[in-house]
Amino acid sequence: MAIHPLEALSASEITTAVKLFREHHSDEQAFFSSIGIKEPNKQDVLHEKQIPRVVRLTGVDQQADGGFVSMVDVTENKVLATSRVPLDAQVAYNYADFGIAIMLTKSNTQWLDAVSARGVDVSSDEALALIQIDPWPAGGYAHDSIPKGHRALRCIAFVREDATDNGYARPIHGLIAHVDVTAKTVTHVEDSGVVPMPTASGRFDSESQSSIRSDLKPLEITQPEGASFQVSGNKISWQGFEVRASVHPVSGLVLHELSLQQRPILYRAALSEMVVPYGDSDPMHSWKHVLDASEYNMGTMINSLKLGCDCLGEIHYLDSHQVTFDGKPKTVENAICIHEEDYGIQWKHYDSSSQTTEVRRSRRLVISSVFTVGNYDYGFYWYLYLDGTIQMEVKLTGIVGISVFTEETYNPAQSPVIGENLSSPVHQHLFCFRLDWHLDGGTNSLFENQIEVMPMSTQNPEGTQFQSVSRPLTTESEAIRDNAPHVSRNWKVVNPASKNKWGVPVAYKLLPAASPTLFAQAGSQVAQRAAFASHNLWATPFKEDELSAAGANTVMHAGQGGLAEITAGNRDIDDCDLVMWHTVALTHVPRPEDWPVMPVEYTGFHLIPVGFFDQNPTLDLPRKCEE
Ligand code: CO
Repeated sequence: MAIHPLEALSASEITTAVKLFREHHSDEQAFFSSIGIKEPNKQDVLHEKQIPRVVRLTGVDQQADGGFVSMVDVTENKVLATSRVPLDAQVAYNYADFGIAIMLTKSNTQWLDAVSARGVDVSSDEALALIQIDPWPAGGYAHDSIPKGHRALRCIAFVREDATDNGYARPIHGLIAHVDVTAKTVTHVEDSGVVPMPTASGRFDSESQSSIRSDLKPLEITQPEGASFQVSGNKISWQGFEVRASVHPVSGLVLHELSLQQRPILYRAALSEMVVPYGDSDPMHSWKHVLDASEYNMGTMINSLKLGCDCLGEIHYLDSHQVTFDGKPKTVENAICIHEEDYGIQWKHYDSSSQTTEVRRSRRLVISSVFTVGNYDYGFYWYLYLDGTIQMEVKLTGIVGISVFTEETYNPAQSPVIGENLSSPVHQHLFCFRLDWHLDGGTNSLFENQIEVMPMSTQNPEGTQFQSVSRPLTTESEAIRDNAPHVSRNWKVVNPASKNKWGVPVAYKLLPAASPTLFAQAGSQVAQRAAFASHNLWATPFKEDELSAAGANTVMHAGQGGLAEITAGNRDIDDCDLVMWHTVALTHVPRPEDWPVMPVEYTGFHLIPVGFFDQNPTLDLPRKCEE
């Protein structure tokens, strides 16, 4: 039986793709950055055509360019094409790059001397094993000593007490190794001065706590008759919703063909890109603005989830098949978690004259994955609700970026205290979601809604009147918009050809959170490289290769290929195959409660049906309690 084009990549497809690639690739030294199913042609998928399974491999080899992107047909067993990526916009870093950078740093005598000058033991292999090196993308700030076009990483370091210690509690402050990965050398050791090593423990494991709460009674989620959803392959069905879930190397968790009661809503919904810019003046942090999705291939850093810890209740998991840097299949078990959650009340009314109550329970289907990128952990949770609401919630946790300060260097406005001699720089997390609409199976238009307070007049004598104003956004430049919670601004996607019972075109509304945009000067490296983050909304007509808000290949790039460039032609977006790009964000001013591990912070957005139904679609929910 033919595999559906949107089914997840299997381990055997990975083995076949790597084998075929190697047979056609002269260079033995290919290190893989990612492997994934090439996004199949949308029209072919919608028309249920037989589509060959094409695997997309990216990586670097010994050629003096930015790496390769190879398309391998694993249905017909042939390499379709291998293209080369230019030096100024390279494929994502891989574990070979990181391994090389760590090895080079730990064997550099100037760096070892600087570490030793900070009182850290570097005299044996055992001592060196306790030094944790975190390689960071050099972004637009590769050191002058690194030739333009070379792959570059900045290595910062930390010391552990033992292998299980919190690696971030003791930063080797003021020291950066600039690594030229292409030339395989440390080109410069940047030392901004010795700062005393913090001594306090940063352990957060149970064994290290002085006491553990004993008054939390068991809270168990049971579904004695099983869950109400079905899963077939990667297709999930629940309460009229149908959707496919998979893992993409850059985007992480991806939803395809999301429909409700056989009515399409979204063809594809996923993170496109994210950026984490730091606002601190400290040279340890001022350059940091990782594009976690595309520079690190966040999707390859997916967690294996555990029942009872990550997810509670009746869980169905999907595995994710990945590739190691040297080309072996690697299966991450339980990578996507699917389950139902009770969500309080769906609706209620108490009728005081008859003294009767009608109340119904709400529940939601959760499709989630968690990704660990260095010190940070990002959970992406899609929620589908009984009333047609679709929600994306990003959960941010893990360990904040960390600085060591002295009385002279303390700078609370840019790096507030979070522990003993420890501070954490102010920073942002900006996530750009690409929403490829297919509302009611046709072409779609975009509107901006907001509230207008009406002027005093004879028609508005009390000055209390306001109205909802809707205006079409018909070109790419008109659709570059920002949040405005003070006027209740939101955006509505409409299918003009599909009208509800009330004669109004069916719609879904995007309700944004109170997200900021990027805090950086327009001419800065980060504003160029992550231009998408300068606005909360962009919209484009669908084009097959436009998936990346910051460009497809962002290692060492200067911003080419991103949304600013994509929308430069100012195409028409009225009544088209509409794609919306929505950036949600958190500004993180760290607090002591964020240390040594950060309680989850949340951001995201809601999509709610607006006239998609003719009335409340949950009147048929069963009554659960009798009075
Ligand atoms: Co943060």
